[in-house]
Amino acid sequence: VAVTIRASLPGDRADVDATLAAAFEGEPEVVALERDLSARPDSVGFVAETDGAVVGFVRLTRGWIDAEAQLVEIVVLSPLGVLPGFQRQGIGAALTAHAVEHAQASGAPAVFLEGSPRYYGRLGWRPAAELGVTPPSARIPTAAFQAIRLSHWEAWICGPLVYADPFWVHDCVGLRGERLETARRALAEDAPR
Ligand SMILES: CC(C)(COP(=O)(O)OP(=O)(O)OC[C@H]1O[C@@H](n2cnc3c(N)ncnc32)[C@H](O)[C@@H]1OP(=O)(O)O)[C@@H](O)C(=O)NCCC(=O)NCCS
Repeated sequence: VAVTIRASLPGDRADVDATLAAAFEGEPEVVALERDLSARPDSVGFVAETDGAVVGFVRLTRGWIDAEAQLVEIVVLSPLGVLPGFQRQGIGAALTAHAVEHAQASGAPAVFLEGSPRYYGRLGWRPAAELGVTPPSARIPTAAFQAIRLSHWEAWICGPLVYADPFWVHDCVGLRGERLETARRALAEDAPR
């Protein structure tokens, strides 16, 4: 399918909500998070369209690395969702690549996210630990906390990542309970032995 990626507009609200509600079934907090993030001046969303219909969405939001010398502005990629009927056609990969290009053009030194290394690893994401950046919560497994280093990265940058407030307001940092246990088991099975 031919896919176009463009910045999301206020008029996309209902389509973006529907896309994320379907992609994150049983996780209504993701739609609530997206609504709050979309109101921020330090956040930008992108939609994927086929035949004029929204089928995927990704967002970048400013965060920080609390480095010793100074706070360093970086971007956090979340949420990323593709309508179930349009998954496995490269739309998620295209949205992610578009977001990374935008982050590079904006001058950010790196992009961070939480997710499956099985999915993001083949798109070029690496463990954030390799950059000396620690996650904003102990509930984010080390392997799930991933980054892409951009050309503005500098070797002195290291420290804990700090998320923008809406991720905390909606309890969208890391996982809890059964979902955390399931993710930890899956990552342990994937880990190199
Ligand atoms: C993750 C998601 C955005 C991928 O979108 P997509 O358009 O299907 O992705 P692509 O077509 O670029 O890549 C598809 C490949 O990734 C794999 N994949 C998708 N999600 C995966 C996951 N969580 N873990 C491992 N592999 C995954 C698929 O198996 C597929 O591989 P295959 O076709 O070789 O079997 C989409 O599946 C989605 O919206 N999922 C629900 C919401 C979600 O989990 N978002 C990510 C949160 S970090």
